[in-house]
This record gives sequence, C-alpha cells and structure tokens, in this order.
Amino acid sequence: MQTQISFAPLSQIETELLAVPAVDTQTAKGADTKPAPVLLIDDDAVKAAAATVLDSGEFKAGVNETLLLHAPAGLAAKRLLILGLGKQAKATVHSVRNAAGTTVRFAKPRGIRELVLAIPTSEALPAAGPAGPRAAVEGAFVGDFDPDTYRSDRKDQSIQSFTVAAPADADRAALEAAVAEGTIVGESQNFARSLVNEPGNKLTPTVLGKRAAEMAKEVGLKCEVHSTGMLHELKMGAFWSVSQGSAEPPALIVLRYEPKGVTDGPIAGLVGKGITFDTGGISIKPADNMEKMKYDMAGGAAMIGAMRAIALLKPKVRVIGIVCAAENMPSGTAQKPGDVQTAMSGKTIEIINTDAEGRLVLADGLAYAKQLGATHLIDAATLTGACVVALGMVNAGAFANNEAAYAQFEAALAVSGEKFWRLPLGDEYVEMIKSEIGDIKNTGGRWGGAITAAEFLHVFAEDTPWIHLDIAGVAWVEDSKPYIAKGPSGIGVRSILEWVRAFEGWSGQTRG
Ligand code: BES
Ligand code: MN
Ligand code: ZN
Repeated sequence: MQTQISFAPLSQIETELLAVPAVDTQTAKGADTKPAPVLLIDDDAVKAAAATVLDSGEFKAGVNETLLLHAPAGLAAKRLLILGLGKQAKATVHSVRNAAGTTVRFAKPRGIRELVLAIPTSEALPAAGPAGPRAAVEGAFVGDFDPDTYRSDRKDQSIQSFTVAAPADADRAALEAAVAEGTIVGESQNFARSLVNEPGNKLTPTVLGKRAAEMAKEVGLKCEVHSTGMLHELKMGAFWSVSQGSAEPPALIVLRYEPKGVTDGPIAGLVGKGITFDTGGISIKPADNMEKMKYDMAGGAAMIGAMRAIALLKPKVRVIGIVCAAENMPSGTAQKPGDVQTAMSGKTIEIINTDAEGRLVLADGLAYAKQLGATHLIDAATLTGACVVALGMVNAGAFANNEAAYAQFEAALAVSGEKFWRLPLGDEYVEMIKSEIGDIKNTGGRWGGAITAAEFLHVFAEDTPWIHLDIAGVAWVEDSKPYIAKGPSGIGVRSILEWVRAFEGWSGQTRG
C-alpha cells in the first residue's frame, strides 16, 4: 500500500473515496436529546455536501459508524464517506487510528483501491498534530490486512494507495515524517500478523528462523539462527525440554540492532515465545480449539515485527531480539510430568504440566539475553489461559519488577493505543511455585495462574528491569471489528517499539 499526504483543499481532491471524521457533540442526557454530529474538518464545500444528511439525524457519529454519499455536490471526490469517532469528549488519536482502519475495510469489498482520509484539524481534536497522520496510516495498514493467503478464491482486494489529507497550514515536514513512520510501523505490525497466521505445518521453528533472517537481511539487522547443538552448548535445558518431543528442531533466533556510534548506555533485550504449535505435549490439550495453538508464537512474531520497525526507524539505542522457537509435541522422546530440567541459569525445574511450556523456553531466552548484555528486558508471550480469564479478550496482561521500566511502558501505551492492564507480582505467588524436588515447579496450581507464570519468569529475569506481556487473550481477534479482520492482531509490536525508542537519548545515564 502506497501512503502519502496531501495539503490540497479537501473539496478539490480527486479520489474514489474521500473520508471525513465526525464526532457527536451532544453533551445533554435525556430521552429526547438528539445526537449532534459535527464534521472535524474545515472545508465549506465538504460541510455543504454533508449538511442535509447530518441534519436528518440518520447519522449519529457513533464509534466506527459510516455513511456513504455518492457524487457529492461540489466535490472532486466520487464518494464522500462520513466516519463516526463517537462522543467528542471521548475521541482521541486512537479513534482516528480505528477510523482509518474502518475506512479501509469499508473500501476493500467495494473494489475501491485508492482513498483519501482527512485527519481532524488540530483545534477540533487536540491530540492530532503529527500523531494524527501517523495513527491514521497505522490504522489503514491494520485494516488492510486479511488472513486469506491460503484461500484459492482470494480476491486481492488490498488498498493500493492511502492518502492522508491535512490542512494547508500544517507543519508539512513533521506530518510527512509522521506518514513515513506510520508506514514503517503498520508494515511491521502486518509482517508480524502474517507470521502468526501461518499454520504449524508451514511455519516450523526452522521456517520462522528463515523468515526472521530474510527480514533481517532486508532491513540491515544482524541475525543468527541456532538450533539443537547450540541449545546443548549453552546448557538451555528448559528450552530444549520443550522441543525434545518434536521431530522439528528448535530455533534460537537472535537479532541484533547496533546503531553506529552507540557504545554505551542501555541495551534492550526483547524476548519472544515462539511455540509454532502447542499441543500441550504429554499433558495434551483437549481437541476443541486446539487448531488455534498455531498462534502460540505471537510473542515471538511481535518481537520480530518490533525489530523490523526498530531497524528502519533507527533509534540510538542497542537492541537484542531473541525468539525461542519450538514445537510442543507428545512423543516417545517428549518430556514427562515429574521430569526435572536444569535451566541455563543453573536453576532446576520440576515439570508438573508439559503444557506450561512457554515459561520454559522463555526462562532460557531471558537468561541468554542477560548473558548477551541486555540491561533491560521485555518479553511477550501467549502464556496463560488464566490471563484470558482475568482480562478477557480486551486487555493483555503486563507485569514489571521495576517502576521506572513500567512507567516507560505506560508512556509507550499512550502512543501505541494498545490495551494492556498491569497485574501484580508478589512473594506469596513465588511460594506457590516452590518445588520439593527441585528449585521451582512449572505450574503454581489453578489460582492466579497468570501471576505464578510471571513469577516463574521473574526467577530468570532476576533484578534486571523487566516487563512481561501476557498476550494470550488478544493475539488472535475472535470477532472481526469494523477496523480489523478476525485473525492475528499483531499486538505488542507498536508498544514494544515505543518502549525501546524511549531509551534513546539516555545513553550513559543510569536509571532504575
Ligand atoms: N499457549 C498456552 C496458553 C494459551 C491459552 C494461549 C489460550 C492462548 C490461548 C500455554 O502454553 C498453556 O498451555 N498454558 C497453560 C498453563 C497451565 C498448564 C499451567 C494454561 O494456561 O492452561
Ligand atoms: Mn501450553
Ligand atoms: Zn503455549
């Protein structure tokens, strides 16, 4: 999808579809109060073209509500699409992101290949500025993705050209840069989604390693993909124990971003769970919905997508990305409940349930990131069903052992618009994973399962500032929304990227 920005008057832009945002300005409550939709743009001809339908009360400017007009009077555009952002008081730059996705998903099935979205003028929506165009472009990429690569009736309905329209007096250079940035971020998120969509038979750990290496070559990252021999050399007994039951060898994917001239300061370590299929192993999962477990590498894909964006946006901070990829299978060589494994750090783990495999591969991934010099850690994993029970399919879980690192992550969320909710850690939960046979066990019982899993990882992150993201409930969109297809969401890419970028500029400083 080509992206660009136009500063031409909206009424003069020739396009198949011109989309303009609107909010509901009604603040009064009561049975007989009517919605008061208002366009967030400054163009008299567009306002005149929309006036009759807005007066009719048919369009309420509700969130993701759309209204299409053909051959709008006085406009060069063939169609005018009015887009609802919801109540004015609640509209933010994140509403603009979703509205852009809604526009693209409106256009795709109608055979429209090229469209223009007017961003709200800055007075109308103070959150705009360069954030508006960036979010709009990101949202357009999110909307453009459909998980249909394996359908033979696939009609390639992708949007070819997406233009953001901004007022003539805008800071043009800043907005152009924002569009370029949104393009990189949107493409990186969709790259992660395309990996997550791949089924287990097509995307084995080895293939995931190849895809990461190809991407690294394209964008100029260093990449090494190791397998069984290296796992044994590094004494990664926890990671190996998961892959030992599979005919497919594991892949330890290491991506490095080393900007020129940056030789000190923090090193961010990004660690992703890359289980290309999770059967549960000997503690096998029930058949219902097991096919979904192809997305058990979504944390790893998020790291690969974030590394792509980092390579292209070039922040001045060193970053190491590690993906621990394996297939969790039952077989004659699979690990068994009761087995004891020795992790890379030397800690011994009593295996209670072979389905709690994500924490095993991450234990060694976190230890390896530290060995390679990471000063700050972030991991992402489709780790627990318990996190889905706690937060539903709306928020992902976030955990941290360090307040400064978490504050930096919260600031990243304000930019990314991704929904994460912090859950606690605590010594009482550590008690729940103590083992009588070894140092720790890999499950802590039924209660607080997302937290005991996080505390398991904490044992390997130790005191290094660390954030853990449990994305089990949100990595796969179960019901399509106007702005995103059913399927892989690409959650994490944008927030992890922003968290990393925040290290820029504090080279040499020491902070929490
Ligand atoms: N990959 C699953 C977690 C998961 C569940 C991801 C639902 C996406 C949707 C993970 O490996 C797992 O099986 N976790 C177990 C842990 C339990 C055995 C302690 C779980 O959550 O049931
Ligand atoms: Mn599992
Ligand atoms: Zn899993």
